[in-house]
Amino acid sequence: MDRLVIEGGSPLRGEVKVGGAKNAALPLMAASILPQGPLVLQNLPTLGDLKTMGRLLGFMGGNVTPFWEGTCERVELDMSKLTRPEAPHELVKTMRASALVLGPLLARYGRAKVSLPGGCAIGVRPIDMHLKALKEMGALFDLSGGDVVATAPTGGLLGARVHFETVTVTGTENIMMAATLAKGTTTIVNAAREPEVSDTARALIAMGAKITGIGTDEITVEGVDSLKGTTYTVMADRIEAGTLIAAVAVAGGQVTLTGAPCSSMEAVLEKFAEAGLNILIEGDKLNVSFEGGTPKAVSATTLPYPGFPTDMQAQFMAVMTLAQGVSIITETIFENRFMHVAELKRLGADITLEGRVAVVKGVKGLSGAPLTASDLRASASLIIAALAAKGKSFLSRVYHLDRGYDSLDGKLRQLGAKIKREKE
Ligand code: EPZ
Repeated sequence: MDRLVIEGGSPLRGEVKVGGAKNAALPLMAASILPQGPLVLQNLPTLGDLKTMGRLLGFMGGNVTPFWEGTCERVELDMSKLTRPEAPHELVKTMRASALVLGPLLARYGRAKVSLPGGCAIGVRPIDMHLKALKEMGALFDLSGGDVVATAPTGGLLGARVHFETVTVTGTENIMMAATLAKGTTTIVNAAREPEVSDTARALIAMGAKITGIGTDEITVEGVDSLKGTTYTVMADRIEAGTLIAAVAVAGGQVTLTGAPCSSMEAVLEKFAEAGLNILIEGDKLNVSFEGGTPKAVSATTLPYPGFPTDMQAQFMAVMTLAQGVSIITETIFENRFMHVAELKRLGADITLEGRVAVVKGVKGLSGAPLTASDLRASASLIIAALAAKGKSFLSRVYHLDRGYDSLDGKLRQLGAKIKREKE
């Protein structure tokens, strides 16, 4: 297993390209099940979760360019010879987003067997809302042996008016994909508005789907008989971009992020500007500078888009551990997304937890320590804090980081961070 050795104190300078968005690439890869011909995706990042999804599609009988063996500009996903509409436990247990194949399999093949995703470090994370909505479209379910065995009505799924009690990103994506080939019209009420949902919708439209209401909380899909293959470029990763900005906030320096999806980062950019960073947008270049000094304490509450994203909560908290004053960080999306707090405190952070609220009192400095990653964004949070800590930190279980970032350590090293990867 790998570990990262991080030595704090080096400012970040230079330019780095923001990679493709993991959370757009995952539904887009699942969407490859829908069209009659191959789907070609461009700008796919090379990271663990996409490798898992690629392997899952291969397990089903699909033919996927093995982009994870080395970066490919163009990844072809040909699912026309799908033989097994199944997502087995050994693949699903490592990635909850495997549930994204459920809607496309039911829509295209009328059946699916998907292992129920277990919980994960940040919470129970059921898919009850996905199943309820698919039931309203006529799907029948049998839960056996930890698997969801689903079948669509003989004539195919039926359009329905589906209301999500709370916003669900992959739930919205699953139903939107299922609805593209359903008989009739589907309306998703209280739909997720995340940019990655919109990116998925745009790709489906390029395949011939009829979708309106993109980016709003009410998405309407008029079912069509079939979809065709297309080529689509995945949007840039707003969370990777936000993570790199957080690194500048603690290490200081001046960085240009090229290809950043600035228009989908308003809530994040606002918080970092409030904390004192200089942020200048020039087209798709995001110039971020913070010349020394200490960030101002800023509070944040995670909310569905366009609110402050839960996927930036841990990274933002790492910055606030060094801010002037007290920051109140409230996590409203997941019930247990403070796994990074205990580890941040090992570096000397002053954080008190009260349920879903973290009270972060800025300290003068942090000191390096051995650290253990617990989940994807917690790993990023610990790297950010370690970039500011005096001395060396050692982050183990880096596989959590590699699930969701395409060489974050490499990008930081390119900007001057003293961070190296070694075998544990
Ligand atoms: C997506 O997860 C993202 N993953 C997550 O990013 C992100 O944190 C999350 O949305 C919220 O923005 C992908 O897009 C692949 P939800 P998802 O369904 O869709 C509960 C990362 O770090 N819920 O919006 O799984 C759920 O437990 C990852 O990149 C139900 O109760 O999240 C959670 O508390 C982490 N029943 C809340 O809703 C359901 O059927 C929001 O979950 C579905 C969800």
